[in-house]
Amino acid sequence: METIKQKYLTNTWYVAALSTDLDGETLFKRTLLETPVVMYRKDDGTPVALHDRCPHRFVPLSMGRRDGDQVVCAYHGLAFDCSGRCTRNPHGNGKIPAAAAVRTYPLIERHGFLWIWMGDAPADESALPDYSRLDEGHANGIAHTYMKRPCHYELITDNVMDLSHVDHLHGEIITTRGQLSPQVPKLNEVDGAVGVRWEWEQTPPILIFNDFLPEPGKTARHFLEVTWTAPTNIQLTIGATQDPAAPLALDSTIGQYDLHACTPENEDSTHYFFATRRNHHEQDGEFNRMKIAGMHAAFADEDGPILDAVHQNMGTTDFLSLNPVLISSDLGPVRVRRLLRQRIDAEQAAAATPPSGRPALVQAG
Ligand code: FES
Ligand SMILES: [Fe+2]
Repeated sequence: METIKQKYLTNTWYVAALSTDLDGETLFKRTLLETPVVMYRKDDGTPVALHDRCPHRFVPLSMGRRDGDQVVCAYHGLAFDCSGRCTRNPHGNGKIPAAAAVRTYPLIERHGFLWIWMGDAPADESALPDYSRLDEGHANGIAHTYMKRPCHYELITDNVMDLSHVDHLHGEIITTRGQLSPQVPKLNEVDGAVGVRWEWEQTPPILIFNDFLPEPGKTARHFLEVTWTAPTNIQLTIGATQDPAAPLALDSTIGQYDLHACTPENEDSTHYFFATRRNHHEQDGEFNRMKIAGMHAAFADEDGPILDAVHQNMGTTDFLSLNPVLISSDLGPVRVRRLLRQRIDAEQAAAATPPSGRPALVQAG
């Protein structure tokens, strides 16, 4: 019998929502890894996440109402606290059935995002990489955004790991003027993280930085680096300088540090979150709003339609099964796909093996 391949890495942290999505009142619902989840803030502000399904007749709890830190189901009024325990049954003698419990999910708040752990293994806070660079600087120097796309999440990861497409796909604001494609990107793998880096010169400089350089319009050296960590998180650093002695690093260039994170809704739909922290013109709130709106539009109008069409055209989520033509720019994305698959397979194998080391399930034939 053929084993069904596990679709997603689950013992890991995914972005579930922006911090600003939970306003303290509403029950916020979102499907993550094919599981409906309801999130809200307790009265003290702590965010919590529960399976969005009443164990009685499976109504979404998000259709119910808050009662302090508890949720009351809209259909027959069972109440649940945020540990998932049923605390009130208004029916009959009021006895609470032993099975009346809702699964909860560990949720932590970092860098303007809420991160959820969907797997069965104990949540491990130390498994969330350090993205604290997002927190360093003025409040108007960072912005977050979210969009949902009708494509498989790995297509978005591929897209960010292979930025040679910026030469071809993107318009005047972020074009790299054909400078990335001739390069064979440098791959750097450390502790399961995969980095890809490009360095180049262009004239005029990339327009998002041009006006902040000493000589707008004149040649500048640029660098761009992406670093993936499982499951779907990519740190992106980009900078430009006209100082011939400056190292190509964020602290010595006009640049920005971004985090891109994808969470599968299902195999055909992805929640895409990103945040950007810039190191220039940090205090201008209006500029900040324009900046994130421009980044959002670049993806929504330029990358998004391509990835949606790719998803439709492939007719499968197993990219490598189609024997794609691979070119030098695919080094990073393909490495990431293989590493992620290894992690998912390892998780699946561990789940099938009890602590005693004996297989949990022996399948015939
Ligand atoms: S479905 Fe929730 S109380 Fe009946
Ligand atoms: Fe793009």
